Amino acid sequence: MERARLAIFLIAIGLAGLAGAQTSTTQPTQPTQPAQVSGVITPAPVAPAAAGGIQGQNIFEVKPDASADPNYARQTNGERAKVQPGNNAPMWRQVGLGVTGYSSLPKSEAPEAGNLIQPFVQYPGSRPTNAGEAWRQVRNNWLIPYGGAFLLIVAGAIALFYFGMGSIKLHSAETGRRIERFTPFERSAHWSNATAFVILAISGIVMAFGKFFLLPLMGGMLFGWLTYALKNMHNFAGPVFAVSLLVIIVTFVRDNLPAKGDLNWLLKGGGMLSEHQVKSGRFNAGEKVVFWGGVFVLGVIVVASGLAMDKLLPGLSYERSTMQVAHMVHSVANILMIGMFMLHIYLGTIGMQGAYQGMKTGYVDETWAREHHELWYDDVKAGRIPAQRTEPAPPSQTVQA
Ligand code: HEM
Repeated sequence: MERARLAIFLIAIGLAGLAGAQTSTTQPTQPTQPAQVSGVITPAPVAPAAAGGIQGQNIFEVKPDASADPNYARQTNGERAKVQPGNNAPMWRQVGLGVTGYSSLPKSEAPEAGNLIQPFVQYPGSRPTNAGEAWRQVRNNWLIPYGGAFLLIVAGAIALFYFGMGSIKLHSAETGRRIERFTPFERSAHWSNATAFVILAISGIVMAFGKFFLLPLMGGMLFGWLTYALKNMHNFAGPVFAVSLLVIIVTFVRDNLPAKGDLNWLLKGGGMLSEHQVKSGRFNAGEKVVFWGGVFVLGVIVVASGLAMDKLLPGLSYERSTMQVAHMVHSVANILMIGMFMLHIYLGTIGMQGAYQGMKTGYVDETWAREHHELWYDDVKAGRIPAQRTEPAPPSQTVQA
């Protein structure tokens, strides 16, 4: 039974990987014929933007110019061409205002194909801005600096904790008797998800923050190739993460349901730093917070917004604003999730003696079970939970109920 579940899960992961390959290698839908944009807008060969682009300002703003015709802002392209041949500013002004032209692309596939540029938006206290530019400002001025600072603060807090208090050690000697904590199926689900998460987190961090700490070290050529490779890995790992997240949620939900002592555990911080930890079942309240907040809520938001950016969420109209909102939601949820899982990874490795062993081998020592999850240990001892849930192990290695 256990083997069959494991096999089905591994096949699902494989299929998810293939779906990722599909997403990553498929080119965006291309029209069979070049799209035409016409109507009120006359196509023009020359764009007015200054060479090198313009940083953070409205390039379509009509600036008063004493030497110009006072009516120049109302001129049509034809009128302007008579006085200044080759100057098609009127057309670009309309483009910049978000005027909808004609496009041969179907509306259902490309709802905004007739708009070369998103319309202007105006936020209280600021001048009108192109919506794409507004999104860029939010990304560069808020998400990147505050998101980066948050991750550095979490990393610093973990380092302070580790170097100040050290890792959480067992208080009694190990007995040598082992209890099965995770079945092969549970471990397989966990490690598939963890691997995909680490790939997604590292590639995401390099894509968002790499230009600050890697670009100066490795130069543009190498950094370009690295981000290109990581971006493709991100596309492959995304679907694997989505499928394994679902399996993780279903597998662990039962033991993460709220229980009587959880509030007490949270109020006392689990007694993690004292001699005796607060009693808990198979998972303590801290783990339950990570499960519901990090795995369930943030995981679902991250997956849904990621699928939206892949244009895979049914029922959404894929306009530029949809992508911008999905991107911002994805970034915020990811930063919080990465912060939360930095703590989880710390406690699952160097932060707590014996925890990693449980997820690596599937077994924990009886002392570890009693000191960290006493109610679960009591259930095992009383025979309410089998100490061995998969294939039988030698009697000397399991707790005698
Ligand atoms: C390299 C990364 C990771 C490491 C080293 C790691 C380590 C561990 C360890 C040692 C445990 C066992 C804790 C115990 O026995 O109570 C555990 C449990 C668990 N981990 Fe991870 N983990 C990693 C990433 C992840 C990720 C990315 C997720 C989900 C998004 C995740 C979800 C879980 C869940 C659901 C449990 C069961 C405990 C609970 O439900 O709260 N882990 N992990």
